[in-house]
Amino acid sequence: MYNFDKIIDRRGTASVKWDLRKTIFKREDVLPMWVADMDFETPDFIVNAIKERASHPVYGYSLMEDSYYNAFISFTKRRHNWEIKKEWMVFSPGIVTAVNAAIKAFTNEGDGVIVQPPVYFPFFNAVNNNKRKLLENQLIYIDNTYKFDFEDLREKAKEANMILLSSPHNPVCRCWNDDELKELGKICLENDVIIISDEIHADLILPDYKHRPLATLSDELAQVCITCMAPSKTFNVAGLFTSIIIIQNEKLREKYNNEMESISLVHANLFGMIAAEAGYSEGDYWLDELMDYVNTNFKLVDDFLKNEIPSIKMVKAEATYLAWLDFKETGLSDEKLHHKLINEAKLGLSPGNIFGKGGEGFMRMNLGTPKQYVEEALQQLKSVFV
Ligand SMILES: Cc1ncc(COP(=O)(O)O)c(C=O)c1O
Repeated sequence: MYNFDKIIDRRGTASVKWDLRKTIFKREDVLPMWVADMDFETPDFIVNAIKERASHPVYGYSLMEDSYYNAFISFTKRRHNWEIKKEWMVFSPGIVTAVNAAIKAFTNEGDGVIVQPPVYFPFFNAVNNNKRKLLENQLIYIDNTYKFDFEDLREKAKEANMILLSSPHNPVCRCWNDDELKELGKICLENDVIIISDEIHADLILPDYKHRPLATLSDELAQVCITCMAPSKTFNVAGLFTSIIIIQNEKLREKYNNEMESISLVHANLFGMIAAEAGYSEGDYWLDELMDYVNTNFKLVDDFLKNEIPSIKMVKAEATYLAWLDFKETGLSDEKLHHKLINEAKLGLSPGNIFGKGGEGFMRMNLGTPKQYVEEALQQLKSVFV
């Protein structure tokens, strides 16, 4: 029903992905497949809801109404079989803001915070900028996929107060399964480690996989878990900065809210709320179609690389719209690889080494884009690597 093939010219819309190319890649003619937003139209039911509200000419301070809470509660029950209570839901503009606020609220300077590289790089900044001790529990890359290193996690957890979990994982495309999450949860409970479960990609699951919110695994885990969700990736409204943080534990919730109040980050954005409510109320069908489309993009890349450029491998994808490509067989250093991709293949990808340990020799390619761009990107890769 929806046309994800449609090419939308985003240039000149203050788009980070398209209009920052000159700054980031030092040239404007790269096909941008880096920052994680999608080149698809924001769905019509969201655009219409925003237009309708925009046609009323007063945009004053606005309430988070029951309809907003209920839309998310019912979506989360439908999509993730999780029954959330309204009072567990607290606000943050962005998820990175919430992660920083949680670090400040629940840990002290010098406390250990675990991250699992290669991982979404603002996690490192959040730990370092707040002067916490960065504990790296690197993921294990094996058989074209990734798993947790539990042995190392058991050691690191002894000196940690918190873990930042990316679930599903950006950039390695894992949709962690129940057994993996249970084991991680068990280690955290045994060591009094608070879990920030960044589930911003929870709705972007490829066919055959199922996202499991960590807090639904047990009542005990629900008490130490801060779950971060948002319509931003799901419905491509990242510029509207409206996120939902779920904290069941009342004491933790109070601490989090105090932290946000200390810098007055408590007021929601009117149009962000409208977009969230419309997406969560009407977005199921669009979302299913989106992930089918993204899945065909992943398949296209995987098949093309296997047949045409076997020196580049796509890591098995279970979730997100971000392909994680292994260039190690090309034998190029990160610097040379980056240079070649930009200046010869004319592609703007995210270099793997920004995601920390284990990211060397990889590139992240954003497939939340029409097939035509993916095909162009593959041809451009072929012209350089074959
Ligand atoms: C794991 C993860 N967390 C958070 C974010 C961004 O969150 P926000 O823009 O809401 O701060 C991203 C965006 O790519 C992400 O991949």
